[in-house]
Amino acid sequence: MIKQIELLKAEVEAFVFDKNQNAENFRLKYLSKKGIITELFDQFKQLGGEEKRSVGAILNQLKQLAESRWQEQKLAEENDADGSVNQFDTTLPVYQGLPGSAHPLKIVENRLVEIFQTLGFDLAEGPEVEDDEHNFGSLNFAEDHPARDMQDTFFIGDFVLRTHTSSVQIREMEKGKLPLRLIMPGRVYRNEAVSARSNCFFHQIEGLYVDENVSFADLKQTLYYFVQQFFGEGTKVRFRASYFPFTEPSAEMDIWAGLDTEENRRLTKGTGWLEVLGCGMVHPNVLESCGIDSEKYTGFAFGMGIDRITMLKYGINDIRDLFVNDIRMLSQFAGV
Ligand code: DAH
Repeated sequence: MIKQIELLKAEVEAFVFDKNQNAENFRLKYLSKKGIITELFDQFKQLGGEEKRSVGAILNQLKQLAESRWQEQKLAEENDADGSVNQFDTTLPVYQGLPGSAHPLKIVENRLVEIFQTLGFDLAEGPEVEDDEHNFGSLNFAEDHPARDMQDTFFIGDFVLRTHTSSVQIREMEKGKLPLRLIMPGRVYRNEAVSARSNCFFHQIEGLYVDENVSFADLKQTLYYFVQQFFGEGTKVRFRASYFPFTEPSAEMDIWAGLDTEENRRLTKGTGWLEVLGCGMVHPNVLESCGIDSEKYTGFAFGMGIDRITMLKYGINDIRDLFVNDIRMLSQFAGV
Protein backbone atom coordinates (compact mmCIF):
# COMPACT_ATOMS: atom_id res chain seq x y z
CA MET A 1 0.00 0.00 0.00
CA ILE A 2 2.89 2.34 0.79
CA LYS A 3 4.24 1.78 -2.73
CA GLN A 4 0.84 2.64 -4.18
CA ILE A 5 0.64 5.85 -2.14
CA GLU A 6 4.13 6.91 -3.21
CA LEU A 7 3.23 6.41 -6.86
CA LEU A 8 0.07 8.37 -6.43
CA LYS A 9 1.99 11.19 -4.77
CA ALA A 10 4.25 11.46 -7.79
CA GLU A 11 1.21 11.43 -10.06
CA VAL A 12 -0.54 14.22 -8.12
CA GLU A 13 2.65 16.24 -8.10
CA ALA A 14 3.05 15.94 -11.87
CA PHE A 15 -0.62 16.50 -12.71
CA VAL A 16 -0.94 19.00 -15.56
CA PHE A 17 -4.01 21.24 -15.63
CA ASP A 18 -5.29 22.27 -19.03
CA LYS A 19 -8.55 22.86 -20.90
CA ASN A 20 -9.73 19.28 -20.34
CA GLN A 21 -8.33 18.81 -16.85
CA ASN A 22 -9.51 21.56 -14.54
CA ALA A 23 -9.77 21.81 -10.77
CA GLU A 24 -13.15 20.07 -10.70
CA ASN A 25 -11.87 17.10 -12.76
CA PHE A 26 -8.96 16.87 -10.35
CA ARG A 27 -11.26 16.91 -7.32
CA LEU A 28 -13.51 14.21 -8.79
CA LYS A 29 -10.58 11.99 -9.59
CA TYR A 30 -8.73 12.21 -6.28
CA LEU A 31 -10.72 13.91 -3.51
CA SER A 32 -14.45 13.31 -4.04
CA LYS A 33 -16.41 10.58 -2.21
CA LYS A 34 -15.55 8.13 -5.01
CA GLY A 35 -12.06 9.59 -5.52
CA ILE A 36 -8.88 7.51 -5.36
CA ILE A 37 -7.60 9.08 -2.16
CA THR A 38 -10.92 8.73 -0.36
CA GLU A 39 -10.97 5.07 -1.34
CA LEU A 40 -7.49 4.65 0.07
CA PHE A 41 -8.69 6.02 3.39
CA ASP A 42 -11.42 3.34 3.38
CA GLN A 43 -8.79 0.63 2.87
CA PHE A 44 -6.59 2.24 5.51
CA LYS A 45 -9.32 1.78 8.12
CA GLN A 46 -9.10 -2.03 7.69
CA LEU A 47 -5.38 -2.14 8.60
CA GLY A 48 -3.95 -3.39 11.92
CA GLY A 49 -2.07 -1.24 14.50
CA GLU A 50 1.62 -1.14 13.42
CA GLU A 51 0.85 -0.79 9.73
CA LYS A 52 -1.84 1.73 10.37
CA ARG A 53 0.62 4.14 11.91
CA SER A 54 3.17 4.12 9.06
CA VAL A 55 0.59 4.16 6.27
CA GLY A 56 -1.45 6.85 8.02
CA ALA A 57 1.40 9.34 8.00
CA ILE A 58 2.11 9.22 4.27
CA LEU A 59 -1.54 8.92 3.35
CA ASN A 60 -2.14 12.21 5.13
CA GLN A 61 0.75 13.79 3.27
CA LEU A 62 -0.80 12.66 0.00
CA LYS A 63 -4.14 14.14 0.94
CA GLN A 64 -2.59 17.46 1.90
CA LEU A 65 -0.67 17.62 -1.33
CA ALA A 66 -3.77 16.91 -3.41
CA GLU A 67 -5.79 19.47 -1.49
CA SER A 68 -3.25 22.20 -1.89
CA ARG A 69 -2.90 21.53 -5.65
CA TRP A 70 -6.67 21.59 -5.96
CA GLN A 71 -7.06 24.85 -4.01
CA GLU A 72 -4.33 26.52 -5.96
CA GLN A 73 -5.87 25.60 -9.28
CA LYS A 74 -9.36 26.59 -8.14
CA LEU A 75 -8.04 30.01 -7.24
CA ALA A 76 -6.27 30.38 -10.56
CA GLU A 77 -9.47 29.51 -12.39
CA GLU A 78 -11.53 31.95 -10.36
CA ASN A 79 -9.03 34.70 -11.05
CA ASP A 80 -9.11 34.04 -14.75
CA ALA A 81 -11.11 36.87 -16.26
CA ASP A 82 -13.33 34.91 -18.60
CA GLY A 83 -13.62 31.93 -16.28
CA SER A 84 -11.98 29.46 -18.66
CA VAL A 85 -8.93 27.44 -17.76
CA ASN A 86 -6.49 29.55 -19.69
CA GLN A 87 -3.15 30.01 -18.04
CA PHE A 88 -1.36 31.07 -21.24
CA ASP A 89 -1.95 34.10 -23.39
CA THR A 90 -1.83 32.48 -26.80
CA THR A 91 -1.83 35.89 -28.50
CA LEU A 92 1.63 36.82 -27.16
CA PRO A 93 4.36 36.84 -29.86
CA VAL A 94 6.56 33.73 -30.02
CA TYR A 95 10.15 34.00 -28.75
CA GLN A 96 12.36 34.20 -31.80
CA GLY A 97 15.46 32.24 -30.76
CA LEU A 98 18.60 32.19 -32.91
CA PRO A 99 18.21 29.50 -35.55
CA GLY A 100 20.88 26.78 -35.52
CA SER A 101 23.21 26.30 -38.46
CA ALA A 102 26.01 24.12 -39.71
CA HIS A 103 29.48 25.69 -39.88
CA PRO A 104 30.27 26.95 -43.41
CA LEU A 105 33.24 24.55 -43.63
CA LYS A 106 30.91 21.67 -42.87
CA ILE A 107 28.35 22.90 -45.41
CA VAL A 108 31.04 22.89 -48.12
CA GLU A 109 32.53 19.58 -46.97
CA ASN A 110 29.11 17.93 -47.05
CA ARG A 111 28.48 19.21 -50.57
CA LEU A 112 31.89 17.96 -51.78
CA VAL A 113 31.35 14.54 -50.24
CA GLU A 114 27.87 14.35 -51.71
CA ILE A 115 29.11 15.07 -55.24
CA PHE A 116 31.73 12.33 -55.08
CA GLN A 117 29.27 9.93 -53.48
CA THR A 118 27.07 10.23 -56.57
CA LEU A 119 30.11 8.91 -58.50
CA GLY A 120 30.37 5.89 -56.18
CA PHE A 121 33.07 7.18 -53.82
CA ASP A 122 32.75 6.03 -50.20
CA LEU A 123 33.55 8.16 -47.16
CA ALA A 124 36.68 7.32 -45.11
CA GLU A 125 38.51 9.02 -42.25
CA GLY A 126 41.83 8.62 -40.49
CA PRO A 127 43.64 9.85 -37.36
CA GLU A 128 44.96 13.41 -36.97
CA VAL A 129 47.95 12.21 -34.94
CA GLU A 130 49.97 10.14 -37.38
CA ASP A 131 53.26 8.30 -37.53
CA ASP A 132 56.01 9.38 -39.88
CA GLU A 133 55.45 6.36 -42.09
CA HIS A 134 51.83 7.16 -42.95
CA ASN A 135 52.30 10.91 -43.28
CA PHE A 136 55.59 10.78 -45.23
CA GLY A 137 57.43 7.47 -45.66
CA SER A 138 54.83 5.40 -47.46
CA LEU A 139 53.91 8.44 -49.54
CA ASN A 140 57.38 8.33 -51.10
CA PHE A 141 58.79 11.40 -49.35
CA ALA A 142 62.61 11.20 -49.33
CA GLU A 143 64.30 11.03 -45.92
CA ASP A 144 65.58 14.58 -46.34
CA HIS A 145 62.41 16.06 -47.87
CA PRO A 146 61.93 19.62 -46.55
CA ALA A 147 58.29 18.94 -45.57
CA ARG A 148 59.62 16.66 -42.82
CA ASP A 149 61.33 19.67 -41.32
CA MET A 150 60.39 21.09 -37.90
CA GLN A 151 59.63 24.29 -39.77
CA ASP A 152 56.62 22.77 -41.49
CA THR A 153 55.46 19.98 -39.22
CA PHE A 154 54.22 19.76 -35.65
CA PHE A 155 55.79 16.85 -33.78
CA ILE A 156 54.36 15.06 -30.74
CA GLY A 157 57.14 12.81 -29.52
CA ASP A 158 57.65 10.23 -32.25
CA PHE A 159 54.40 11.23 -33.93
CA VAL A 160 53.31 14.13 -36.12
CA LEU A 161 50.08 16.06 -36.52
CA ARG A 162 49.22 15.00 -40.05
CA THR A 163 50.21 17.65 -42.58
CA HIS A 164 47.74 16.42 -45.19
CA THR A 165 44.88 13.95 -45.62
CA SER A 166 47.03 11.90 -48.04
CA SER A 167 47.96 9.80 -44.99
CA VAL A 168 44.42 8.38 -45.06
CA GLN A 169 45.13 7.01 -48.56
CA ILE A 170 47.89 4.85 -47.05
CA ARG A 171 45.71 3.65 -44.16
CA GLU A 172 42.98 2.58 -46.57
CA MET A 173 45.26 0.94 -49.15
CA GLU A 174 46.99 -1.06 -46.40
CA LYS A 175 43.70 -2.74 -45.58
CA GLY A 176 44.27 -4.81 -48.71
CA LYS A 177 40.80 -4.58 -50.21
CA LEU A 178 40.51 -3.54 -53.86
CA PRO A 179 39.12 -1.79 -55.81
CA LEU A 180 39.05 1.39 -53.71
CA ARG A 181 37.06 4.50 -54.44
CA LEU A 182 37.22 6.89 -51.49
CA ILE A 183 36.63 10.48 -50.47
CA MET A 184 38.43 11.45 -47.24
CA PRO A 185 37.83 14.80 -45.51
CA GLY A 186 39.63 15.96 -42.39
CA ARG A 187 41.65 18.50 -40.42
CA VAL A 188 45.37 18.94 -41.10
CA TYR A 189 48.16 20.93 -39.40
CA ARG A 190 51.15 22.98 -40.55
CA ASN A 191 53.65 24.85 -38.48
CA GLU A 192 52.91 28.23 -40.04
CA ALA A 193 52.41 31.75 -38.76
CA VAL A 194 48.72 32.62 -38.56
CA SER A 195 47.60 35.34 -40.96
CA ALA A 196 44.59 36.30 -43.06
CA ARG A 197 45.62 33.72 -45.69
CA SER A 198 47.20 30.92 -43.69
CA ASN A 199 46.47 29.10 -40.47
CA CYS A 200 48.29 26.50 -38.39
CA PHE A 201 45.42 24.09 -39.04
CA PHE A 202 43.02 23.83 -41.94
CA HIS A 203 40.88 21.26 -43.75
CA GLN A 204 41.42 19.09 -46.78
CA ILE A 205 39.50 16.57 -48.76
CA GLU A 206 41.32 13.72 -50.43
CA GLY A 207 40.15 11.45 -53.23
CA LEU A 208 41.52 8.05 -54.23
CA TYR A 209 40.58 5.53 -56.88
CA VAL A 210 42.58 2.31 -57.28
CA ASP A 211 41.60 -0.48 -59.65
CA GLU A 212 42.79 -2.22 -62.80
CA ASN A 213 43.10 0.14 -65.78
CA VAL A 214 42.50 3.43 -63.99
CA SER A 215 43.88 6.15 -66.26
CA PHE A 216 44.65 9.85 -66.24
CA ALA A 217 41.59 10.29 -68.47
CA ASP A 218 39.45 8.86 -65.63
CA LEU A 219 41.00 11.39 -63.27
CA LYS A 220 40.28 14.30 -65.61
CA GLN A 221 36.70 13.23 -66.24
CA THR A 222 36.01 12.75 -62.50
CA LEU A 223 37.39 16.18 -61.63
CA TYR A 224 35.62 17.77 -64.60
CA TYR A 225 32.31 16.38 -63.36
CA PHE A 226 33.04 17.64 -59.86
CA VAL A 227 33.80 21.19 -61.11
CA GLN A 228 30.57 21.38 -63.14
CA GLN A 229 28.57 20.22 -60.12
CA PHE A 230 30.27 22.43 -57.57
CA PHE A 231 31.25 25.60 -59.43
CA GLY A 232 28.48 25.48 -62.02
CA GLU A 233 27.87 24.15 -65.56
CA GLY A 234 30.29 25.49 -68.13
CA THR A 235 33.10 26.30 -65.65
CA LYS A 236 36.38 26.06 -67.59
CA VAL A 237 39.29 24.08 -66.13
CA ARG A 238 42.94 23.57 -67.01
CA PHE A 239 45.60 21.15 -65.79
CA ARG A 240 49.18 22.25 -65.17
CA ALA A 241 52.08 19.83 -64.73
CA SER A 242 53.29 19.77 -61.12
CA TYR A 243 55.20 17.63 -58.66
CA PHE A 244 54.18 15.62 -55.59
CA PRO A 245 56.30 12.74 -54.25
CA PHE A 246 53.28 10.41 -54.12
CA THR A 247 51.97 10.89 -57.68
CA GLU A 248 53.52 10.47 -61.12
CA PRO A 249 52.60 12.26 -63.28
CA SER A 250 51.33 15.06 -61.06
CA ALA A 251 49.17 18.04 -61.91
CA GLU A 252 47.40 21.00 -60.43
CA MET A 253 43.96 21.97 -61.60
CA ASP A 254 42.80 25.56 -62.05
CA ILE A 255 39.33 26.86 -62.71
CA TRP A 256 38.60 29.95 -64.78
CA ALA A 257 37.33 32.70 -62.50
CA GLY A 258 37.71 35.48 -65.07
CA LEU A 259 39.17 38.96 -64.95
CA ASP A 260 35.98 40.97 -65.03
CA THR A 261 35.95 42.14 -61.41
CA GLU A 262 38.58 43.73 -59.21
CA GLU A 263 38.08 40.86 -56.75
CA ASN A 264 38.77 38.19 -59.41
CA ARG A 265 41.86 40.02 -60.64
CA ARG A 266 43.14 40.12 -57.07
CA LEU A 267 42.31 36.49 -56.26
CA THR A 268 43.85 35.18 -59.48
CA LYS A 269 46.84 37.52 -59.34
CA GLY A 270 45.83 38.91 -62.70
CA THR A 271 45.71 35.56 -64.54
CA GLY A 272 41.98 34.80 -64.30
CA TRP A 273 42.86 31.22 -63.21
CA LEU A 274 42.34 29.96 -59.70
CA GLU A 275 44.20 26.91 -58.38
CA VAL A 276 41.82 24.50 -56.66
CA LEU A 277 43.58 21.18 -56.23
CA GLY A 278 46.58 18.90 -56.65
CA CYS A 279 46.25 15.52 -58.27
CA GLY A 280 47.99 12.75 -60.20
CA MET A 281 48.43 9.04 -60.79
CA VAL A 282 49.37 7.20 -57.59
CA HIS A 283 53.15 6.57 -57.66
CA PRO A 284 54.02 2.85 -58.06
CA ASN A 285 56.25 3.14 -54.94
CA VAL A 286 53.19 4.19 -52.94
CA LEU A 287 51.11 1.25 -54.18
CA GLU A 288 53.96 -1.16 -53.44
CA SER A 289 54.51 0.26 -49.94
CA CYS A 290 50.89 -0.69 -49.23
CA GLY A 291 51.36 -4.19 -50.63
CA ILE A 292 49.51 -3.50 -53.90
CA ASP A 293 50.85 -4.98 -57.14
CA SER A 294 51.68 -1.88 -59.22
CA GLU A 295 51.95 -3.97 -62.40
CA LYS A 296 48.32 -4.98 -62.09
CA TYR A 297 46.74 -1.95 -60.45
CA THR A 298 46.85 1.78 -61.12
CA GLY A 299 45.13 4.63 -59.35
CA PHE A 300 44.54 8.33 -59.25
CA ALA A 301 44.45 10.69 -56.28
CA PHE A 302 43.60 14.30 -55.64
CA GLY A 303 43.52 16.66 -52.69
CA MET A 304 42.12 20.12 -52.09
CA GLY A 305 41.77 22.67 -49.32
CA ILE A 306 38.24 23.07 -47.99
CA ASP A 307 38.90 26.39 -46.20
CA ARG A 308 40.01 28.15 -49.37
CA ILE A 309 37.01 26.91 -51.34
CA THR A 310 34.70 27.99 -48.50
CA MET A 311 36.27 31.45 -48.43
CA LEU A 312 35.82 31.76 -52.20
CA LYS A 313 32.24 30.55 -52.09
CA TYR A 314 31.14 32.91 -49.32
CA GLY A 315 33.45 35.84 -49.99
CA ILE A 316 35.33 35.47 -46.68
CA ASN A 317 38.62 37.35 -46.87
CA ASP A 318 40.28 36.30 -43.62
CA ILE A 319 40.68 32.60 -42.76
CA ARG A 320 40.57 33.50 -39.04
CA ASP A 321 36.94 34.58 -39.45
CA LEU A 322 36.07 30.89 -39.86
CA PHE A 323 37.12 30.20 -36.28
CA VAL A 324 35.89 33.16 -34.24
CA ASN A 325 33.68 32.19 -31.35
CA ASP A 326 30.85 34.50 -32.35
CA ILE A 327 27.38 33.09 -32.85
CA ARG A 328 26.56 35.92 -35.28
CA MET A 329 29.09 34.48 -37.71
CA LEU A 330 27.29 31.13 -37.75
CA SER A 331 23.75 32.48 -37.73
CA GLN A 332 24.37 33.94 -41.20
CA PHE A 333 24.47 30.37 -42.50
CA ALA A 334 21.19 29.16 -41.02
CA GLY A 335 19.17 27.33 -43.63
CA VAL A 336 22.02 27.33 -46.20
N1 DAH B 1 48.72 16.34 -50.11
C1 DAH B 1 48.87 17.49 -50.99
C2 DAH B 1 49.04 18.75 -50.14
O1 DAH B 1 48.73 18.74 -48.99
C3 DAH B 1 47.67 17.65 -51.89
C4 DAH B 1 47.59 16.55 -52.90
C5 DAH B 1 48.23 16.64 -54.09
C6 DAH B 1 46.85 15.41 -52.64
C7 DAH B 1 48.16 15.65 -55.05
C8 DAH B 1 46.77 14.38 -53.57
C9 DAH B 1 47.44 14.53 -54.79
O2 DAH B 1 46.07 13.27 -53.37
O3 DAH B 1 47.35 13.53 -55.70
O4 DAH B 1 49.46 19.74 -50.65
